[in-house]
Amino acid sequence: MAVPSDSNTSNSSFLHQFLQESCYPEELRDSIISLPKEEGWLTPHMYNYRGFWFDSKFLYGALRSQQQFQAQHSDIILSTLPKCGTTWLKALVFALTTRKQFPVSQQTHPLLTTSPQDLILNLEFFYARENSPPNFPTMNNNGVMRLISTHLPLELLPKSVGESKCKLIYVCRNPKDTFVSFWHFMNKMRGELVGLGEIPFPEAFDKYCRGASHYGPFWDHMLGYWMESLENPSKVLFLKYEEMKKEPDAHLRRMAAFLECPFSEEEEEGGVVGGISRLCSFESLSNLEVNKTGKGLLFGNSNNAYFRKGKVGDWRNHLTDEMATKLDQIVEEKFKGTGLKFNSDY
Ligand code: A3P
Repeated sequence: MAVPSDSNTSNSSFLHQFLQESCYPEELRDSIISLPKEEGWLTPHMYNYRGFWFDSKFLYGALRSQQQFQAQHSDIILSTLPKCGTTWLKALVFALTTRKQFPVSQQTHPLLTTSPQDLILNLEFFYARENSPPNFPTMNNNGVMRLISTHLPLELLPKSVGESKCKLIYVCRNPKDTFVSFWHFMNKMRGELVGLGEIPFPEAFDKYCRGASHYGPFWDHMLGYWMESLENPSKVLFLKYEEMKKEPDAHLRRMAAFLECPFSEEEEEGGVVGGISRLCSFESLSNLEVNKTGKGLLFGNSNNAYFRKGKVGDWRNHLTDEMATKLDQIVEEKFKGTGLKFNSDY
C-alpha cells in the first residue's frame, strides 16, 4: 500500500506558506485579497468565498482541486467539518474497505502505526501544496479505489464529484461539542505551530455563532450535505457522531452496505464488525504510540491533537447556560423545516 510521503514540500516550508499571507500563489492573490475577510483563528485572516470561511492557503487548495481533481466512479469521499469526527471516520472507513488485505486482528495493521489523518489525505490540503503532483495518490490496496477526505462544503466540491458515481460519507456532530472541540484544537495549534496564546472563549464563541469558523457557517455546511443525502441517498450517507458513539457496529454495517461491501455471514460470525469498531475506538487509537507522540505529515503537528476526550456532551463543562441556549436557538432557526435535528440530550 502506498502510504503518502512528504517528498516535495517540507512540513516547515508548508507551514510557513500557510501562515504567511504574502505567500499567496501569484495567480490567486488578487482574487483572494479582495474577498471579505476577518481575523483568522490561526492565520492573520480568514476569507469568505461564496459564503464559506477559509484560510487563504486552503482556499487556494480548494480552487486548485476544483480545477484539477478528477473524481473516479470508485472514489470514496469522507466529508466533515473540522472536529466532527474526521479522524474516527477515516479510521473506520480505512479498516472497513481494506479488511481483506488487512484483517483487523493482524499485528501489522496500518492503523497501529500510522495516524488515520495520514492514511487518508485531505483533498484541499493536498492541493494546497504547490509542488504536489496533479494526480491524487492511490491510497488503497487494490490500486483502484481511492479514499479521500475533505472539509469542503458540498457546493464547493470539484464538479467531477457530482458527475461521477463516487460516494460520499458525511459525519456531523452537535454544534455545542463541535465548538468546544474546535476551540481546544485551535488553541493547541496556535501554541504549537504559531506560538500564540489561547483565543478568549467568549470571542471564539461569538465567531462560531456568526459562522466565522473554518468551512463555516456550520449550518450551511451541514445542510448542504443533509439535503443532498435526502435527495440522493445512494450518493451521500449522512451520519451523526453521537449516534455512531451509541451504536458503532450498526453504523459500520450501514457504511458497509452503502459502500456496497456488506459484511458476509462468515465475517459477522467471526466478529469482524466488533473487531473494526474496537480497533477504531477512541480508547484504542488514542493509546497507540503513533497517535500519542507522532507528528502529522502535513504540518508536522502532534497527532495527539486529534484525540482529546472523544465524549458526547463535554460542552456542559465549558458553555454557560446562556451560550448553550444561544447555540440551540441558532440550530433551531437554521434547521427549521429541514428535518435535521440534534437530540437535546446531547
Ligand atoms: P473532542 O475534542 O470532543 O474530544 P476531528 O477528527 O474531526 O478533528 O475531530 C476530533 C474530535 O473527535 C475530538 O473530539 C476527538 O477527541 C474525537 N475523536 C478522535 N478520534 C475518535 C474516535 N476514534 N472515536 C470518537 N471520537 C474521536
